[in-house]
Amino acid sequence: MQKNVFLINTLNTHYVMGVNDDGVLQHIHWGAKMPVDQYSVFNEWERNSNHSELDYTKEEYSVFGGTRYRAAALKCIHADGCRDSVFTFKSVTRDEGLLEITLTDSEYDVDLVLSYAYGSDHDIITRSVTVVNNGNAAITLERVFSAELNLPSRSPYKVINTNGSWGAEFLTESNELNNGTVVYESKKGIAGHTHSPFVIMHRDATEDWGDVFFAALGYGGNFKIEVNRDFCNTTRCMLGISDFDFSYTLGAGEKFTAPKVYMGYTCGFTAMSNMMNDFAVDNILPKGYAKKHLPVLYNSWEATEFDVNTRDQLALARIAADIGCELFVMDDGWFGKRNNDRAGLGDWYVNTDKFPNGLGELIDGVNSLGMDFGLWFEPEMVQQDSDLYRAHPEWTYHYDSRTPSLLRHQLVLNLTRDDVREYVFDCMDSMLSKYNIRYIKWDMNRPFSEIGTDNLENGKELWYRHTMAVYDIADRLHKKYPYLQLEACASGGGRAELGAMEHFDMVWTSDNTDPVDRLYIQRGYSMLYPRKCMRAWVTDAGGSCRCSDDFRFNTSMQGSLSIGSHLLKKDKKTLQGYKEYIARYKSVRDTIQFGDLYRLANYDCDGVFITQYVSKDKSQSVLFISTAPTSLFNKQDKEFVLKGLDPNADYECRYNDNTYRHSGRFLMNKWHKVTIGGALQSRIVVLNRV
Ligand code: GLA
Repeated sequence: MQKNVFLINTLNTHYVMGVNDDGVLQHIHWGAKMPVDQYSVFNEWERNSNHSELDYTKEEYSVFGGTRYRAAALKCIHADGCRDSVFTFKSVTRDEGLLEITLTDSEYDVDLVLSYAYGSDHDIITRSVTVVNNGNAAITLERVFSAELNLPSRSPYKVINTNGSWGAEFLTESNELNNGTVVYESKKGIAGHTHSPFVIMHRDATEDWGDVFFAALGYGGNFKIEVNRDFCNTTRCMLGISDFDFSYTLGAGEKFTAPKVYMGYTCGFTAMSNMMNDFAVDNILPKGYAKKHLPVLYNSWEATEFDVNTRDQLALARIAADIGCELFVMDDGWFGKRNNDRAGLGDWYVNTDKFPNGLGELIDGVNSLGMDFGLWFEPEMVQQDSDLYRAHPEWTYHYDSRTPSLLRHQLVLNLTRDDVREYVFDCMDSMLSKYNIRYIKWDMNRPFSEIGTDNLENGKELWYRHTMAVYDIADRLHKKYPYLQLEACASGGGRAELGAMEHFDMVWTSDNTDPVDRLYIQRGYSMLYPRKCMRAWVTDAGGSCRCSDDFRFNTSMQGSLSIGSHLLKKDKKTLQGYKEYIARYKSVRDTIQFGDLYRLANYDCDGVFITQYVSKDKSQSVLFISTAPTSLFNKQDKEFVLKGLDPNADYECRYNDNTYRHSGRFLMNKWHKVTIGGALQSRIVVLNRV
């Protein structure tokens, strides 16, 4: 291989770069493995005065400047006003599983370190970029994306992202990009419910076949994904912190590292999802719970809302324990003067009208029932009707000249201030040190507005600094309380992304707990995110007419099963049913939380939803079949084959009171009929290797 060519060798792929005669780092290849001596780098050339050499070059990381007339991954302003960047190759280092290429702008003594972490047992490359200011004057970064991806082939790609909303997260959509630029971003301060900080690009791939290129950002603040197909039909993609209202001042001698990007190339969507699922469990999630299954949780929010007290919570807890829940969570309403959503946020001490003797009696009671206890916080928020706001109105983001805009009657705290960050940490710390609290649901229910900060010299740093402050507090809590489980929630799934998942053990996927809607939401989530982190509640949403308990449980069992129903309103028979469903879940949860997932059918294409989970050792498989809300005659006669089994082993299952035994090869090749008639029917089928 040429000296100026750098190869990253993963389980099934090669990622190759090279330095050309001008010192420019070029992208050479990303995809299947080829003979390594055949990779080479050559200079493009100027075709005419309107199309420069750089227009044709696939650069590994394009910067703003020179004769580049396309989007740049980096844009900075030097102290002398120069906004032109020239970065050429300086050095390369390779440590086990880590390649770092340094480019330099020698005129200003600024380095760009492109880093690539990889492994031989998967195909995910973790990229990031560090800007190092070795000069003696500050520079201003106006854009510093985490990665640029160059895709092979001139034919148009389909670009998948989400177009969701509150209560309708993770609805995936595909755009065919024939020319120009498609942008997915958030300007809200969190990733939000609409677009997702990930991108999937393909040309007619299916679950099983076709080239799939994907990347997910490990950052849940304002993000931006830009995919462009240019005049010579080259498709490029950039991901990183949104440059909307972003700027960062890098003093002399300082460094800035952009968030990580996890990127991969697979054959088909199933391989993509399973690869990313395993990668997140092994490498992204906080170590404490990454490899442990998550407990069955009961959350009392939908049952009691703000009306919480020891007696009623314990009454719910007794039933929750009896049906098999392992963790009891009291949600909103326990603190400050919190009787509805108009007051109290910021006052994180126990409401003594509701709990005259503190939380000790409730927590001891929950613990004596054999369950852990968890509590809800919304740490980034304050309300005008709170002791905290009366004492420190200046602790919010604000401009003196503007009236603060309220959403859900609340304001966002300026977490870029050290004193505010310490206050937030101390509030949670004092509850955790006083009580046996082993889980926190960290909520975040409104986007930012009037984003003034008196404390920052460069006010545009706030978005980034706020996100880092959230991660910092979460990390400090984990460090001090290693047993603590943290769940990230932002009005449902506004923080269900890999940035949060590096610091929180699980996420709340959506406030919409209707089991039919949830199948769509869960499907979108499952594309790139680990299913064990997906909290999925069985609730009373939609009333009893729309869905049976079979349907509700079979939907929620496809992630980390949780219960949110009003247990005090259930009769004995229903609760006995709940108990049996939970026991069944426990018998298959390792397969679901850690096994491989196969999306066999969905309502849009097939009129029935079928998902299959297979344990890593292929000894167990769990199949969920749910029919559509319609019962069009004959249209629900569907056929499917199973996937991922051991072809040479026999599997046994019980279905409709009969026991069946077939080889894996048979089950994976013989098409089976869905024999369930009627709308909104649901079945779980467990296959065990004999
Ligand atoms: C948000 C969350 C809910 C619940 C309420 C409490 O809406 O998404 O799960 O915690 O806040 O106010």
